[in-house]
Amino acid sequence: MKKVKIGIVGLGRLGKKHAENIAYKIPNAQLLAVCSIVKEEVEQIQRDWDIKYVYTNFDDMLKNKELDAIFIASPSNFHCEQIAKALEAGFHVFSEKPLGLYVDEVKSVQKIVNEHNNQIFMLGFMRRYDKSYAYAKQKIEEGIIGEPILIRCYGIDPASAMEGFIKFAKSNYSGGLFLDMAIHDFDLARWFLNSEAIKVWAIGGVYAHPVIKEINDIETGAALIQFENNKMGIFVSGRNSAHGYHVETEIIGTNGAIRIGSVPEKNLVEIFDSDGTRKECVGGFLERFEQAYLNEVEEFVDCIIQNRKPSVKVEDGVKSTIIAYACKKSFETGELVNIDQ
Ligand SMILES: NC(=O)c1ccc[n+]([C@@H]2O[C@H](COP(=O)([O-])OP(=O)(O)OC[C@H]3O[C@@H](n4cnc5c(N)ncnc54)[C@H](O)[C@@H]3O)[C@@H](O)[C@H]2O)c1
Repeated sequence: MKKVKIGIVGLGRLGKKHAENIAYKIPNAQLLAVCSIVKEEVEQIQRDWDIKYVYTNFDDMLKNKELDAIFIASPSNFHCEQIAKALEAGFHVFSEKPLGLYVDEVKSVQKIVNEHNNQIFMLGFMRRYDKSYAYAKQKIEEGIIGEPILIRCYGIDPASAMEGFIKFAKSNYSGGLFLDMAIHDFDLARWFLNSEAIKVWAIGGVYAHPVIKEINDIETGAALIQFENNKMGIFVSGRNSAHGYHVETEIIGTNGAIRIGSVPEKNLVEIFDSDGTRKECVGGFLERFEQAYLNEVEEFVDCIIQNRKPSVKVEDGVKSTIIAYACKKSFETGELVNIDQ
């Protein structure tokens, strides 16, 4: 079978993992080109992995007509512009989350995606491709908890990753805690509740790590969201989890509840030692969602081969950005924000 030839932009914390998956773990895909503004990054990958084309300029990569698809893992402030350029150059496109950082730019890019309906576009909400989240969704659709009415989400990065986060946040504009982190939970909320947000109130601050204030971000934030049909969402997001990477989700229904990762265990190992008995916590996003990152790219490649649309759509990127941006606005103004869909 013909392989889907992919060029990736962004070879940082996540981009390098995606590149490795495309190069070595997806039989129907070929990593034909890599691009980053950092020359050493592309040269290193070309040497180590024998990649045919390397670029330090995104526009140059788009001139390569051997490519079928462009994979975007650059910083969030470049996503909309790069998605538009890649679609207009005729490629299928995968973009990392968030779709964009402002409501205007995501609405404009949605229009461009819709105008290129014959090309595949997919957004990296990888949690939907995680085995546990997918199973929870299936159970909810089977009706085992009745009608879902409330979602409670925690998404907290490990304090041990602080140095890497500060480096990332200083060199990139991430949009801040709600657009960068909580966006995954906003997407899950829409997915599980099957309902759109109408009102948000968000609060937060910097408590243990003043350096986060220097980069104009929040260390821990909380949001309360009202969804259509009187459904509810409670969200806690942060950068300072002492015990590890804490991603936890609960969906409460009219006839029961489902929890995913309420104790974010690393594996099935239990340790009995001079500290007592314990289970270790999963260390970070690459570890917790390792399989989901692979599954989502497999789905993107399969969609191109089979000419079908992925289940994560540009609309999901638009709606989640609208929620996250409303949270940012609510935090900054101290006001309740109505969401105009
Ligand atoms: N889905 C997830 O769970 C998840 C996890 C982490 C990051 N992300 C997203 O992935 C994206 C990248 O995050 P990261 O942590 O890998 O960032 P990073 O800072 O580690 O890496 C960014 C990469 O992009 C390159 N780059 C920067 N500007 C560029 C430009 N103009 N053109 C080409 N290359 C450029 C950098 O040289 C680097 O290789 C972000 O949008 C982030 O939100 C998603």
